[in-house]
Amino acid sequence: MSEIPPGPVPGELLEIAVRVAREAAATARRMRDEAIGDVQTKSTDTDVVTAADKAVERQVVDALRAVRPDDGVLGEEYGDNAAAVPGAVRWIVDPIDGTVNYLYGLPQYAVSLAAEVDGEVVAGVVRNAATGDEWTATRGGGAWRAGRRLSCSTEAVLGQALIGTGFGYDPRRRAHQGQVFAQMITRVRDIRRMGAASLDLCLAAEGRLDAFFEKGLNPWDYAAGGLIASEAGMVVTGLNGAPAGPEMVLLAPPALFEALHELLTELDASGGP
Ligand code: IPD
Ligand code: CA
Repeated sequence: MSEIPPGPVPGELLEIAVRVAREAAATARRMRDEAIGDVQTKSTDTDVVTAADKAVERQVVDALRAVRPDDGVLGEEYGDNAAAVPGAVRWIVDPIDGTVNYLYGLPQYAVSLAAEVDGEVVAGVVRNAATGDEWTATRGGGAWRAGRRLSCSTEAVLGQALIGTGFGYDPRRRAHQGQVFAQMITRVRDIRRMGAASLDLCLAAEGRLDAFFEKGLNPWDYAAGGLIASEAGMVVTGLNGAPAGPEMVLLAPPALFEALHELLTELDASGGP
């Protein structure tokens, strides 16, 4: 009888991810220190991409190819080339999440790298390239930072909750997100918009935000951070039973989930363009 070949081991994928993300973060940091050059715009005038975004993603793809040549890669700058082979690994990379912070030198930008097998993220790392803070997780293996296992907030009262969120680049989407923001701000402790979704998810994983929501995120923004948050005990989902996705990424501690979900539904947070 022929043996079934073993699937990729999450711990081994994480080891690769951490090494590659550290090297990528060092490049982003060095390019920032040397000067920001060649700033272009993407979907709108406020959606920027720097030479560093492209160079860092290229470096990540090359580093992954060197050790795992058959894997697919979905990247923010260069797109998706994943083969739909059962059991194959697809890496999901945001070379610089928080590009506007990067542009302005605000120390809140990160490399986010996740490994997905059959549509399920099994390992992920988010590294703040400015500070060196690093969060990791493997599916079933917990979420970690600096050798400490993470657990999310236990807040149960929405009015006492500090909520993270973000805004897309399309002005029409922002207009709707602004309305949701305006109506929510009187119903919660406060709202934070720090500018790098991957880091927001990691902050939520360690209870420095009680919860987070955003419409319009892409997989590279939340693949690694979503696993880290879920391994830290958070419910990570969309609205009305949908999985987390472009329509909504919602993270909350179990005790807060229903109340926040109800408020987001009432405010039609996944509505608008
Ligand atoms: C953005 C950041 C931001 C979020 C936006 C994202 P980028 O990613 O994560 O916090 O609000 O929706 O597009 O453009 O800096 O990689
Ligand atoms: Ca991003």
